[in-house]
Amino acid sequence: MRRLILVLGAAACWACSPPEAGPVQAVKVAPGEIEPSEWAKAWPLHYLGWGMTREPGPAGKSRYKRGWDGRKTFDRLSEYPYLALLFNGWGLGVEYNEPRGHAWMLEEQVEHVDRSRLKAGGVCLSCKSPYASRLAKELGRDYYARPFDEVRARIPAKHRLLGVSCSDCHREDDASLRFDRDFTLGVALRAIGKDPAKLHPQEMRSLVCAQCHATFSIPKDKEKRSVGLFFPWQGGRWGRIPVETVIANARRNPEWTQAVTGFPMGFIRHPEFELFSYDSAHWNAGAACPDCHMPYAKAGARKISDHRIMSPLKNGLRGCLPCHSQTADELRERVFAAQDRTVSLLDRAGFAAATAAKLFELCHREQAKRGGLPGLDAALYARAKEFYEQAFYRLAFIGTENSAGFHNPAEALRVLGDAVAFAGKAEALLRQALAGAGVKAPAKVDLELSRCLDGRGERKLGFDLSVEIKDPFGTQANF
Ligand code: HEC
Ligand code: HEC
Ligand code: HEC
Ligand code: HEC
Repeated sequence: MRRLILVLGAAACWACSPPEAGPVQAVKVAPGEIEPSEWAKAWPLHYLGWGMTREPGPAGKSRYKRGWDGRKTFDRLSEYPYLALLFNGWGLGVEYNEPRGHAWMLEEQVEHVDRSRLKAGGVCLSCKSPYASRLAKELGRDYYARPFDEVRARIPAKHRLLGVSCSDCHREDDASLRFDRDFTLGVALRAIGKDPAKLHPQEMRSLVCAQCHATFSIPKDKEKRSVGLFFPWQGGRWGRIPVETVIANARRNPEWTQAVTGFPMGFIRHPEFELFSYDSAHWNAGAACPDCHMPYAKAGARKISDHRIMSPLKNGLRGCLPCHSQTADELRERVFAAQDRTVSLLDRAGFAAATAAKLFELCHREQAKRGGLPGLDAALYARAKEFYEQAFYRLAFIGTENSAGFHNPAEALRVLGDAVAFAGKAEALLRQALAGAGVKAPAKVDLELSRCLDGRGERKLGFDLSVEIKDPFGTQANF
C-alpha cells in the first residue's frame, strides 16, 4: 500500500515538474556546432525524438491536419478551393500543401515543391535552414536577392538538405533555450518594444517556434528582387499583434500580383505566433507552444520534452492533461468543434472573396474590351477594392494559420466574420459601380475554380488531388 501511494505521488508531479537538462553523457558540444549527431553525443534521447519527425504521425487522429500519410501530402488548394483562385499569381497558387514533420522542411523545398515557390531567392532559406543567420550576415543583400540554389550552395555539402537543428533553439553548453534568428525575430521584438535580452523562460519557449511560425514580408526593389525580410509587427505590442496591425504593415509591401484581379498585394503566411498570442485563452493561461506540441515524455528512466514535434491530436493530447480534467477523447472533440466552426466561416469568407474577385476580373475585362468604362464611378470602385483587399488579407491570415482556428477560436471567428462582411460589401459596391457603367454582371458568379486547380505547375504534382472537402455546416451549399 505504501509503495502504491509513493508511485501515485510520483506520477502526479511527474507531469508538472520540468525535465532536467543535464547531459546524459559528459560531452561538450562545440560552439557554433550545427551537426545534430554531434549534439546527440551529449543528448541522445532528444536527438532520437528530433529524428522521428521524419516519420508520419499516426493516421486518422486529426480532422484538418492530415499532413502526410507516408505516401502523399495533402493538397491545401483542393481542400480550400477558393484559395487556388485567390492565391493564383505566384507559387502558393501552384502548390500549397499541409505541413509535414520538421525533418522534411528543407528537403521539401529543394526536392518536392514546385520550383515557382523558390522565386523569391536565397531569402526562402530563412525558416528552413539552420545556416540562415550566418548566410544573412555573410552575404548581406545578396542573401535575399541571389537565386535560391546559388545561396544554398554556400551551405556545407552535407547540410544542404538539413532542416531545423538543435542549434536553432539551444545553447551548446547546457542546452538552455535561445533563438538563432536575431536578424528577423530579434529585430521584430525590438520593434514592438520587447527586449530580446530580457525574456522570461516561458516566453522563450514560444519564441523559439516564432522564429518560423510567424508571418513575414519580403520587400522588393524595382526589378522585383528580394532585398530583405521583416515581420509586419510594427505598431503592435507584446501579446497584442492583431490582424489589423499585420495587414497595415504587410500591404505597404507589395510582393506579388493577384492573377484574377491584377492587384499588386502584400501577403500573410502562417501567423501561428500572432494568432495564439493575441489574447487567446491559452496564452492568457500562460501556456507556450511546447506545452501542447512537446509534452513531457518518458524515455527509459528519464523524463524529457518530446522532440517529436507534431499535432497534439497525434501525440495523444498528453500536453493538455496536466491542466485539464477532461479525457483526451473529450478534448479531441472540443478541438474538432472549434475547428469545424472556423472552417465553416473560412469557407463562407473564401467563396465570398472569390466572388468579388471574379467581378473585378469581369470589370477589368470589360474595361480592356471597350477601351475604358467612362460610366464607372471611380470612388465606388475604390471603396469596393479597399473592402475586397481587407477581406482577402483576413482570409489569408486564417487560411494560412496552421491550427484551423484552435490556437485562438474566438479571434479566428472575429477575423473571419469581418472578412465575410468586407467581401459582401465589396461585391455590393462593385455591382453598383458596374451597373452604373452599363456592364451586366451575372446574378450567380461562376468561380471557374477548376481552371485554377487543374494543370498547375511545371512539375507533375505528387499530392492527392481528391481530398474530400470538409463542409461541417453545409456552408458551401449556399454558393
Ligand atoms: C527553422 C524554422 C522552424 C522552427 C524553429 C520551428 N518550426 Fe515548426 N515547422 C517549420 C516548417 C517549415 C514546417 C513544415 C515542414 C514541411 O512541411 O516540410 C513546420 C511544421 C511544424 C508542425 C507540423 C508537423 C507535422 O508533423 O505535420 C508543427 C506541429 C510545428 N512545426 C510546430 C513547431 C513548434 C511547436 C516549434 C517550436 C518548438 C517549431 N515548430 C519550430 C519550421 C519551423
Ligand atoms: C493549448 C495547446 C496549443 C498551444 C499552446 C499551441 N498549439 Fe499549435 N496546435 C494545437 C492544436 C490542438 C492544433 C490542431 C492540430 C490538428 O488539428 O491536428 C495545433 C496545430 C498546430 C500546427 C499545425 C500542425 C499540423 O499537424 O499541421 C502548428 C504548425 C502549430 N500548431 C504550431 C504552434 C505554435 C508555433 C504555437 C505557439 C506560437 C502553438 N502551436 C501553440 C495546440 C496548441
Ligand atoms: C524548434 C526548437 C527545438 C529544436 C530544434 C530542438 N529543441 Fe531541444 N528543446 C526545445 C524546447 C522548447 C525545450 C524545452 C525547454 C524548456 O522548457 O526550458 C527543449 C528541451 C531540451 C533539453 C532539456 C531537457 C528537456 O527535455 O526538456 C535538451 C537537453 C534538448 N532540448 C536537446 C535538444 C537536442 C539535442 C536537439 C537536436 C537533436 C534539440 N533539443 C532540438 C526546443 C527545441
Ligand atoms: C497550461 C495549462 C493548459 C494547457 C497545457 C492546455 N490548456 Fe486548455 N485551457 C487552459 C485554461 C486555463 C483554459 C481557460 C479556461 C477558461 O477560460 O475558463 C483553457 C481552455 C481550453 C478550452 C476552451 C477555450 C477555448 O480556447 O476554446 C479548450 C477547448 C481547451 N482548453 C483544450 C485544450 C487542449 C486540446 C489542450 C492540449 C492540446 C489544452 N487545452 C492545453 C489551460 C491549459
